[in-house]
Amino acid sequence: MQIITKNAYLVTLQRIIDDKDGILTIAESGKQIPFKIKRVYFITDTFYKSSERGHHAHKDLEQVIFCINGSFKLLLNDGNNEQEVILDKPDQGIFLGKELWHTMSDFSDNCIILVMSSDLFNENDYIRDFEEFKKYLKTIN
Ligand code: TYD
Repeated sequence: MQIITKNAYLVTLQRIIDDKDGILTIAESGKQIPFKIKRVYFITDTFYKSSERGHHAHKDLEQVIFCINGSFKLLLNDGNNEQEVILDKPDQGIFLGKELWHTMSDFSDNCIILVMSSDLFNENDYIRDFEEFKKYLKTIN
């Protein structure tokens, strides 16, 4: 999987495979996760074909997003390049840096999304309008 958008890359977690006793998957701050994790949240119950989430970018927040069960489609747009990625492996996530528009859709049955975040929730860090996002990019570049 090659990521072409700015401020995003593939994160692979450590796995310990215990044969018949299951698989242990590990994320540590400063190792696979490039920031101190201040918040973790997960998304479940995306029952509808039409369910969509995201539709925003962050000014400063950094996150890593995983699909720890099932699959979903992640769309990334850095203002110049757009890319769709299918996340369907519990140990493979995407680093979502700042200034990156993202949406999540096409959730499989029992999809579970897990997000690790560099900061506490702050609505002021969100840009929730795509045109505003493009204007914001011009002001900072
Ligand atoms: P949002 O981040 O837009 O969700 P998604 O990207 O998954 O579509 O958040 C949805 C709502 O939940 C919004 O009103 C903000 C609130 N929220 C919190 O209060 N705390 C949080 O940590 C998160 C992630 C969201």
